[in-house]
Amino acid sequence: MKITSDFLVIGSGIAGLSFALKVADNKTVSIITKREIQETSTRYAQGGIATVFSNEDSFESHSKDTMVAGAQLSNREIVDMVVAAGPKAVQDLINFGTDFTRNSSGEYDLTREGGHSFRRILHAADLTGDEIERALVAAVQNHPNITVYEHHCAIDLITEAKTLQRRLPENRCLGAYALDIKNDEVLSFGAQITVLATGGAGKVYQYTCNPDIASGDGVAIAYRAGAAIANMEFMQFHPTTLFHPHAKSFLISEAVRGEGAILKRADGTAFMDKYHKLKDLAPRDIVARAIDNEMKTNGDDCVYLDITHKGEKYIKDRFPHIHKTLLEYGIDMGKQPIPVVPAAHYLCGGIKVDSHGQTEIKNLFAIGEVSCTGLHGANRLASNSLLEGAVFGDRAAQLALKNVADTMPTFPVIKPWDHGNATNSDEEVVVNHNWDEIRLFMWNYVGIVRTDKRLSRALRRINMIQEEITDYYWDFYITSDLLELRNLATVAELIIRCALERKESRGLHYNLDYPETDDIHWKKDTVLRKTF
Ligand code: FAD
Ligand code: SIN
Repeated sequence: MKITSDFLVIGSGIAGLSFALKVADNKTVSIITKREIQETSTRYAQGGIATVFSNEDSFESHSKDTMVAGAQLSNREIVDMVVAAGPKAVQDLINFGTDFTRNSSGEYDLTREGGHSFRRILHAADLTGDEIERALVAAVQNHPNITVYEHHCAIDLITEAKTLQRRLPENRCLGAYALDIKNDEVLSFGAQITVLATGGAGKVYQYTCNPDIASGDGVAIAYRAGAAIANMEFMQFHPTTLFHPHAKSFLISEAVRGEGAILKRADGTAFMDKYHKLKDLAPRDIVARAIDNEMKTNGDDCVYLDITHKGEKYIKDRFPHIHKTLLEYGIDMGKQPIPVVPAAHYLCGGIKVDSHGQTEIKNLFAIGEVSCTGLHGANRLASNSLLEGAVFGDRAAQLALKNVADTMPTFPVIKPWDHGNATNSDEEVVVNHNWDEIRLFMWNYVGIVRTDKRLSRALRRINMIQEEITDYYWDFYITSDLLELRNLATVAELIIRCALERKESRGLHYNLDYPETDDIHWKKDTVLRKTF
């Protein structure tokens, strides 16, 4: 079956929905999303969205903090552009219905997180993403020109080169194939412009605070189609997720440290002063490495985050969701320190795009966490991700509206999906086993601290697993689990290859064989492209 619209948006987080709402007034939009519409990383964001909203603050300061966190690898022009576009992008979210928390004087309450020189983070208590997603979903569902396809998993892009089966001087995207998960059917979505807004890839690591949707699909899909992928070695580990046998890496927001919480060893001594002058509010890469070092040096399973000195009433009012969730695990954060460990959180690299979110493939945009815009460099500043999603959703929409034709142009005929000789699999254990194996060796060999030996070992392992997945992929009917496994393996390979390429330590990439930052040779992106 073939479905056609002016715009095809893949993903329903802040980036995809912002884009859709900004192009839909006079054009048709299809949104495909692989679970329910609201099931996104956006929904789980706690801390907030960073932008300059106070008179004491300045664009210069926000840009400088972003550059420092990014270990000077961020693109200064992009940083300045995003920072300056921030207040309008946040106002647009408010106009779509987002209700950010206000203080007793009725002004927006601004919180602080690591690496920020000022209070500049708007939040909705400690459920900011849930509130943004709620407002955007409601606006999308009320829009007559937007059709949402839930439980549809994008498989691959449909490109002109692939359709005509020949190399072209300039490849063009014509849409995407997607698996209708509930009906087990592959559909072709044709569109003038396709937007990948598929979010991050935290699931590539054994421990992550990301939801299950974060399997790196967009990066793998774009790589297979020939787009450039950059800076995949910069996987951000959030310093503080709950350490508890039954908690699936529940995040303890950095805003908790922003409001005064202190990291401590099991014996109650604080330790961050040993690592950075900003102590507990140092950039995330430094805090995560410090915790890793403390745990390894002292042989401890976790460290502790203590905010008890702020008093129970304050804690319950400011962090109601975290407080309530911790109580379910038997931890009262008003009375006792919270056991925490780092976990994979955010992909700073991704599909390389220009300042409007355009990829190297014509008519294909990538926005949000799936993209590499130049904003984050070697490490993302806290709360700059929601900001990037909203700003690039807007900028991509403005350009896409200029590029789109008034009437649907004629496409080359899109070939229906070919199942070949595939049969039903009775070996699903292979999928589960490979999934677990990838996530475990990525954690152990390609985690917070790396060495060339560990990275080479990981590369050998991923090459073997990929051969197995390729055989399996063409022999059996596809399922969403198999699609995600194939994408996860591709993303793991790209992270390892970028990490092996970078012969220095910078931001989130720390290699014991090259512990210094080497500005002369390595102040540049690592870029990979598939060879055909
Ligand atoms: P997402 O919101 O992740 O949406 C991706 C969408 O793509 C989903 O709808 C998914 O189903 C869909 N999708 C994926 N693959 C496919 C496929 N193959 N086919 C169809 N659909 C697909 N950032 C901040 O700035 N501030 C914060 O306070 C903050 N807190 C965070 C807390 C947590 C626990 C987490 C996990 C992240 C947090 N982040 C925060 C990061 C931020 O939430 C994300 O980077 C951001 O929301 C990503 O938005 P997005 O639109 O790019 O993708
Ligand atoms: C958090 O609340 O700690 C997450 C903030 C972010 O990832 O930007």
